[in-house]
Amino acid sequence: MFNAADFPNLLVGLDAPDDAAVYRIDDERAIIQTMDFFPPVVDDAYSFGAIAAANAMSDVYAMGGEVIFGLNIAAWREDLALELLSDIMRGGADKLREGGGVIAGGHTITDQEPKYGVAVTGIVNPQHILTKGGAHPGDLLILTKPLGTGILTTAGKRAIISTNDLNNAIEWMMTLNRDASRAALAAGIKAMTDITGFALAGHAFEMALAAQVQFRFRFEQLPLLDGALELAKQGSIPGGTTRNRDYLQGKVFLPENLSDEWEAVVFDPQTSGGLLMAVPSGILDSLAREFKARETDYWIVGEVVEGFGVQIA
Ligand code: CO
Ligand code: CO
Repeated sequence: MFNAADFPNLLVGLDAPDDAAVYRIDDERAIIQTMDFFPPVVDDAYSFGAIAAANAMSDVYAMGGEVIFGLNIAAWREDLALELLSDIMRGGADKLREGGGVIAGGHTITDQEPKYGVAVTGIVNPQHILTKGGAHPGDLLILTKPLGTGILTTAGKRAIISTNDLNNAIEWMMTLNRDASRAALAAGIKAMTDITGFALAGHAFEMALAAQVQFRFRFEQLPLLDGALELAKQGSIPGGTTRNRDYLQGKVFLPENLSDEWEAVVFDPQTSGGLLMAVPSGILDSLAREFKARETDYWIVGEVVEGFGVQIA
């Protein structure tokens, strides 16, 4: 058994799992370590690589850090063209570079199902780590990317989506959370996470639980990718949605009249989703300025209240 007290420099990881592990080097520097990899979510190899890297890097940004370098992790089938794998890795390398980092190596194994991702190392000032906890009643909830990537990529696999809608979703998934993270840090936000496979509902629940509060969202205010509701209505719903809904029974409360397609959005597993932050009202104006200075999109989607769990109203 590990005892957190034996690892005083491991600031985040053993006690309360967060977006990434954080290891303190000295008073000004801590290392952030995270990794993620998965099978292709879109057909285009370069885009898939860029999305997978942006998704892996996101946990560093969710902690308020900056990316230093990454290591590729890949699985490849022997009969698939190696050119495709190098396109995937080019997409990943370009994202690391965009974030000010570099791919410094990696490892590929042979496997039936191709997979790609990045083990990402970041750095953060230990005094300025953003964690899931720390939300207070009265805070506003802000989200920085529209929802529905699970619905849209599922529709993409079934080839029932317009090129425009798919390309728009790809654009969002390739967008780094770096600028949104820097804006949050500059404005003095404390509580933040990124929205990924556990959906808006699941990641919001983690933040609410960590702070012993309730997160309340108004579903009409949730930003959606173009096509998300229509495609969900047509049954384009990934398998993870049901798993999320089952796991969140008794933790996430929905209005009785919420339509199936909106429910699909609330529990939709996201790939490279946006940041969710709890914003004290006194900080809102300066946060808005920080977003504007970085030309970063954001939506006010709800508020923190006393209570438990997540309420969709
Ligand atoms: Co995360
Ligand atoms: Co992750």
